[in-house]
Amino acid sequence: MAQTRYPKTPREEQPEASADSAETTARGPFSRRQFLRGSAAAGAASAGLLSGILDDAAAQGEPGVAGPGAVDMAFKINGKAHVATLEPRVTLLDALRNHLDLTGAKKVCDRGTCGACTVLMNGDPVYACSVLAIEAQGADVTTVEGLGSPANMHPIQQAFVDHDAQQCGFCTPGFIVASAALLNRHPNPDQDTVHRELGGNLCRCGTYAGVRAAVAQAAGGGTTNG
Ligand code: FES
Ligand code: FES
Repeated sequence: MAQTRYPKTPREEQPEASADSAETTARGPFSRRQFLRGSAAAGAASAGLLSGILDDAAAQGEPGVAGPGAVDMAFKINGKAHVATLEPRVTLLDALRNHLDLTGAKKVCDRGTCGACTVLMNGDPVYACSVLAIEAQGADVTTVEGLGSPANMHPIQQAFVDHDAQQCGFCTPGFIVASAALLNRHPNPDQDTVHRELGGNLCRCGTYAGVRAAVAQAAGGGTTNG
């Protein structure tokens, strides 16, 4: 009876081959060597493309690639000039809190969901945890410290005190900055506007009624509590 012969190893049955075909895999017509040659060519093409993009960006006056090491940065925060040497990956929130001694904006979720880190950039509220410090250069940044001081509070800060609109306080600086931005845009907001404009700020302690009362006071009573 004829005996079925199984190769002891896959290579045992393979014919003599060239250096390229000896590296041919069972999965396709390309050898490892050919694949590596192709990858190198593609890499060179990508590098050329990237360099072209950067050249175009430079020609258009756009900033080039910074980092990964620390680079010098300059900021305007609360009307004052600040400089720091930071890695480009550092967020505006970490720059403020860890390098510029401005700890008013709070780090709670650190992923753009709670609003505790809200600051103003050119008057617009932004999550400082979701903006790179390097992107904030050239902008007018305002933190809660820049709105007022204990001796000379901003009307919205005074209103938060008057209405006891905080418990643990972690969300409070973000709410105050967002409320200041709201009142700048809508000096007499209705309730829907307050809900919408403060919708990006969360309070785990549930101080929303106090916050709305504070906004109403700072708006001069032009909004309804509720
Ligand atoms: S800490 Fe930035 S949104 Fe929560
Ligand atoms: S006062 Fe505690 S999270 Fe708002």
